[in-house]
Amino acid sequence: MENHKRETPLKPRRLLLFPIPSQGHINPMLQLANILHSTGAFSSITVIHPHLNSPNPTNHPHFTFLPIPDGLSENEASTRDVVAFLSVLNRNCAGPFRDCLAELLAEEEGVACLITDAWWLFSQAVADGFGLPRIVLRTGSVASFLGFAALPLLREKGYLPKQDSQLEEPVPELPPLKVKDLPTVTTHNSENFYNLVAAMVKETKSSAGLIWNSFEDLEQSPLTKFRQEFPIPNFSIGPFHKYFSASSTSLLAHDTSSIPWLDTQPPKSVLYVSFGSVVEMGGNEFQEIAWGLADSLQPFLWVVRPGLVRGSKWLEILPNGFMEAIHGRGHIVKWAPQQEVLAHRAVGGFWTHNGWNSTLESICEGVPMICYPCFGDQMGNARYVTDVWRIGIGFESGMERGLMARTIRRLMVEREGEEMRERIMCLKEKAGVSQQEGGSSHHYLESLITYILSF
Ligand code: UDX
Repeated sequence: MENHKRETPLKPRRLLLFPIPSQGHINPMLQLANILHSTGAFSSITVIHPHLNSPNPTNHPHFTFLPIPDGLSENEASTRDVVAFLSVLNRNCAGPFRDCLAELLAEEEGVACLITDAWWLFSQAVADGFGLPRIVLRTGSVASFLGFAALPLLREKGYLPKQDSQLEEPVPELPPLKVKDLPTVTTHNSENFYNLVAAMVKETKSSAGLIWNSFEDLEQSPLTKFRQEFPIPNFSIGPFHKYFSASSTSLLAHDTSSIPWLDTQPPKSVLYVSFGSVVEMGGNEFQEIAWGLADSLQPFLWVVRPGLVRGSKWLEILPNGFMEAIHGRGHIVKWAPQQEVLAHRAVGGFWTHNGWNSTLESICEGVPMICYPCFGDQMGNARYVTDVWRIGIGFESGMERGLMARTIRRLMVEREGEEMRERIMCLKEKAGVSQQEGGSSHHYLESLITYILSF
């Protein structure tokens, strides 16, 4: 980061950051905070955040953390209905956020700009009210944003709601997506979902700029399309997490046994299995996955997050005979140091839900994927992995243990997997080049700093 160091401007300039309080959103926002901090261009960084899932300030002594009340009940905080969660969060936090901002702006230190997650739907109006520029952080891929932006058109054309008979049909407006890949979620009222997305797109359009956790060589064509349709300054400076060694932004404690266990395994032999921080599944699905892993005869490191299986505390739902069947070939943990795991020489594949952070982290370590998307942007991310970058295998026809075991072997031991490994190594290299002097992410980071300092 030395290359970005510049003289501190005469007038100290402070940045205010406002993440959405869930793991997949806090990680990239705090990584961004670290990137901007290390440029030396800003006098201080303040992170305003709801009480829920508060980051641990001792992990980030160079930032100021300001909690605001979120008024969430226990049920609201733990709901798996992301639309209901985002709606109530936005409703409850608007007032406290405005009050907090008013206090900060009354202080002597000048604020350069506010950077908020795209899902804070009131933050543009609040920033406008104070005459403060707002830059949006989109934590997902560029392609997923285009998918969200196209939802009204796709509804008009009859692609949505998805009909079983049309799931395999292509969507020519959003190549290479099929109808089944369109970004949808399970919620008690889908109209709320469409309204929420429309507001996110509208508020992003009226912002002063947009930061992507992506890079030019990865998403060239979606970026070109975005720039044609949304003429706002935008900066593809990702992958964020590669500006630093392993991050300390995890909300859950990492299990410390993962790396010592991997140390005992042969190179590229282990399948890492994790479905992120939000996905929930039924007991039957979980048991099919367990048998798929057992029948594949491959070593595996499996993250079974408490809460992953509906109605189950942790491992009591594992099928009878499973532990005997794997003969010590597997290691199960509640939460792993994922970036370190993916970088470990023993890991040869990643069975993932294709959250954007996981997808990027896998690309950056050259680990090909088995795609198991569940909701929202994950299906589209998976389509890019399998059909555009060709660095992973999807399940196109059902999910039963035999198919799972075969898919694991295709990725881990067959030529097909080897070819994917070669392709993903090229992307890994491109990600690295993008952050070096002369690379695209390096260039956009420089432009972002200049842009913020121009306010
Ligand atoms: C959510 C949505 O589900 C996803 O679709 C969207 O793209 C981002 O927000 P999440 O499900 O948590 O995210 O997945 P992901 O984006 O992959 O983020 C998970 C983060 O948790 C990653 O940074 C990963 O490194 C970390 N993680 C995951 C761990 O540190 N340990 C683990 O065991 C699993």
